[in-house]
Amino acid sequence: MVTRKWPQVVEEALAARYDVTFNHSDKPMSAKALGVALTNADAVCPTVSDSMSAQVLGIDRIKSRILGNFGVGFSHIDLEAARRRELVVTNTPDVLTDCTADLAIMLMLMVARRAGEGERQVRGGHWTGWSPTHLLGTKFSGKVLGLIGFGRIARAVAERAYFGFGMKILFTDPRPPPEEIVTRLDATSLNTVQNLVAQADIVSIHCPGGDTTHHIVDSDTIARMKRTAILINTARGDVVDQAGLVDALQVGGIAGAGLDVYEDEPAVPSALKSMENVVLLPHLGSASLETRVAMGMRVLDNLDEFFADRDPPDRVI
Ligand code: DGY
Repeated sequence: MVTRKWPQVVEEALAARYDVTFNHSDKPMSAKALGVALTNADAVCPTVSDSMSAQVLGIDRIKSRILGNFGVGFSHIDLEAARRRELVVTNTPDVLTDCTADLAIMLMLMVARRAGEGERQVRGGHWTGWSPTHLLGTKFSGKVLGLIGFGRIARAVAERAYFGFGMKILFTDPRPPPEEIVTRLDATSLNTVQNLVAQADIVSIHCPGGDTTHHIVDSDTIARMKRTAILINTARGDVVDQAGLVDALQVGGIAGAGLDVYEDEPAVPSALKSMENVVLLPHLGSASLETRVAMGMRVLDNLDEFFADRDPPDRVI
């Protein structure tokens, strides 16, 4: 069972090997429909828009043995509940790293250089011509970038920022990265999120979602950021206290934000939508055709290994 529409080439590859039920409507499936899928299919392939909660996974007769998740993040799957049902869970790391890092840099540039505002002016017919003081943003090159989490995507962002824009890289992560990466990027490790945000011009979030990182960027953390700083979130919405962020932006506590993810997607607070210094994207981090095809093929590889009685390469549990 594939819960959402996937790129055609991947759906064809899946259909050539398996007896697949596709969701051609592409509407998110209800909890009940996901439960039915678990009772009928050997494998369910969910994605971020499917809440595989303890309740969904707790239904009586589960036939499924594997959840082949389409996406690297899996905080929408209750892993404890999946473990109890002896489900294998896989994800799709690596293949979306570049595109998500590209998008994080794009958000940084858009907020710093006021690209959203400028575009709205031009499209709205409000641009009256060049002037020395028109839409002055903040210089991006050479600034201090603070990364919360220093896994694959954060490192790819750091590569772009350090080598492409001459930025100073700070990071915080409970798991120390290989020393050679730190040296190559001349990066500085900080022991707390609080220390990191106080020193950064741009703070970019790259930790997984879930219980341990819920509201890791709360009002107190945001209050420690520089008033000139920008917050970027391409990770998961619940990592940031969204109401606290809105409050801080409203009083000028920070200079701006670039968001690709939200606490209650697809709902986006109207307060955010009304702010000129905020760039809002609809969860597009991995949204290139090449990457979405690669993600689907990665799910297929995991299924193939699993059903050949081998360990799938991207096994989460
Ligand atoms: C990911 O891969 O985690 C993306 O956010 C889509 O789920």
